Amino acid sequence: MPPKPPKVIAIYPGSFDPITNGHLDLIQRGSRLFDRLIVSILRNESKQPLFSVEERMEMLREVVQAYANVQVDCFDGLLVDHAAAHSATVLLRGIRAISDYEFELQMALMNRRLRPGVETVFLMSNEAYSFISSRLVKEVFGLGGNISGLVPATVEARLRRRLSQRQTKGA
Ligand code: PNS
Repeated sequence: MPPKPPKVIAIYPGSFDPITNGHLDLIQRGSRLFDRLIVSILRNESKQPLFSVEERMEMLREVVQAYANVQVDCFDGLLVDHAAAHSATVLLRGIRAISDYEFELQMALMNRRLRPGVETVFLMSNEAYSFISSRLVKEVFGLGGNISGLVPATVEARLRRRLSQRQTKGA
């Protein structure tokens, strides 16, 4: 096992389409645990996101500016290669419920096989956020439901703008 590096750099990867208060809670916890935390958005051409990678990076930057040791990036290709490019030795992931665990375990073990020097660390966000996902937030908002308190205010404002743009286009 390699020795502990002097500074622990962690990557928190995901789609963040858009960032929720559950993600933000995890970022806050990660920023306290690691010397540097890089929140990295996967550029995934196969998914049809609501927000572009650039928009998601802007939203993330707006909400993480309070944390001096947190930065925002994006990546394509293998996550472990992205981690190595940043000298990161930790991959941070959130677990909300047992249902998340199976897939997260598979990913963590695959990533360990690909790069044994990189550890996956799982954190639980505050239980108040344990039911939130980006997918549900988009669905509820799109159907006119109240999402205040589930996403940062700036994200809610962007969701509102995106929805009215879509309604104008569709009209
Ligand atoms: O927010 P998500 O969609 O749950 O994040 C999934 C993510 C980005 C962590 C995962 O899809 C990923 O790491 N993709 C990069 C490609 C890769 O390295 N695949 C092998 C991981 S087992």
